[in-house]
Amino acid sequence: MTGAEATLFVDAAQVVTCAGPARARRGGEMADAGVRVGVAVAVTGDRIAAVGPRPELERAYPDAAIMPCGGRVLAPGWVDSHTHAIFGRPRADEQELRAAGVDYLEIARRGGGIHASVRDLRQRSDDALFMLALGRLRRLAAYGTTTVEIKSGYGLSIEDELRSLGVIRRLAAALPMRLVPTWLGAHEIPPEARATPGTRNRYVQMLVHEMLPRVAEGGLARFADVFCEPGVFTLDETRTILDAARSAGLLLKLHADELAAGGGAELAAALGATSADHLGAISSAGIAALAGSSTVATLLPGTMLFLGRRTQAPARDLIDAGAAVALATDFNPGTSPTPNLPLVLMLGVSQLRLSVAEAMIAGTVNGAAALGLADTVGQIAPGFSADLALYEVEDVRELPYWYGDRRCVASWVRGKACSQFDLAIT
Ligand code: NIG
Ligand code: FE
Repeated sequence: MTGAEATLFVDAAQVVTCAGPARARRGGEMADAGVRVGVAVAVTGDRIAAVGPRPELERAYPDAAIMPCGGRVLAPGWVDSHTHAIFGRPRADEQELRAAGVDYLEIARRGGGIHASVRDLRQRSDDALFMLALGRLRRLAAYGTTTVEIKSGYGLSIEDELRSLGVIRRLAAALPMRLVPTWLGAHEIPPEARATPGTRNRYVQMLVHEMLPRVAEGGLARFADVFCEPGVFTLDETRTILDAARSAGLLLKLHADELAAGGGAELAAALGATSADHLGAISSAGIAALAGSSTVATLLPGTMLFLGRRTQAPARDLIDAGAAVALATDFNPGTSPTPNLPLVLMLGVSQLRLSVAEAMIAGTVNGAAALGLADTVGQIAPGFSADLALYEVEDVRELPYWYGDRRCVASWVRGKACSQFDLAIT
């Protein structure tokens, strides 16, 4: 992007606008990704100004700089609405254990899983965590992602959760990407709180009465999330934590029904949560509850694939019932170490049976809605932030097709170009 007031993106083979109402798309509304041929896009400052025939836009913006798209596909930057990007070492050791038949919960019982990442994070400095996350977020950006939600949740003490959220704040200042912080102090019960009966409840009370007020006072998180799952946090505990979070001014998310149906989706709908995430084992009552609510169903098929599960969340049933479905990476060291959102869209089509248009809406507009940003990002339409990505393909159907292959060649956030593997630290 030059310093010119306006820039025209011209000669794209297709512009995937995803244009439409500035809210979650539900059910049949997901079937149209607004693909346009023969149009240019005008950006003024940090916003999309217009989409239309090039001659028309050249008349309206005679001094505009020209950005040639070279017959490629221009799309809104991806909105990855579910990641756990603040962690230390990779947990590649666990993958082999799983292949040998040791499942996720058994690995956790042996001291692996989330606890292993908690022990690791607590030993690392803020600077070390910052540098690790910086490199990893650059990789997410390299696939065309321009907005990323990041959860804490590998600290599980007041100090380490606040440190994690502080690192997210530093990353937001250092990177051009738009980052959305989520407090996930209720990711697990830490080992020290499991020691004796009664300490579990003390951990929940500490979350509500000590940690949450510090998070809220510091303005460190936009969302609160809880891992609501049999064996982790119960429905009652989840409700207690999220009621308090809402009173403290945070928006709500839930890890719900990931491995077993436990009423998490129904609780998310009842609490008015912005999203319910995972849903690999959601019940039919849960599907009906989400379809009748404003809560976005965020599905994470990469997680199920990586864990070697044979099943996936019932995306078709959710959409056909009228729910809004988003897709995200779940980028984390234990269950989904991929930064590649287009790969997740491929899984959306091949495993969840979405159409290409549904997958595109799930990775843009509905991801934005899952972050309360549906009026800001996720569309190439006048007034939206100029968050764009350009792909080395000629047809939108190739985005969830060349799986694993990085086709993104350029991206822009707020109208400013991001270099893919070397995002400037500003
Ligand atoms: O979203 N479900 C809980 N949390 C993560 C996994 C975290 C981990 O294993 O480190 C998830 O899958
Ligand atoms: Fe997760």
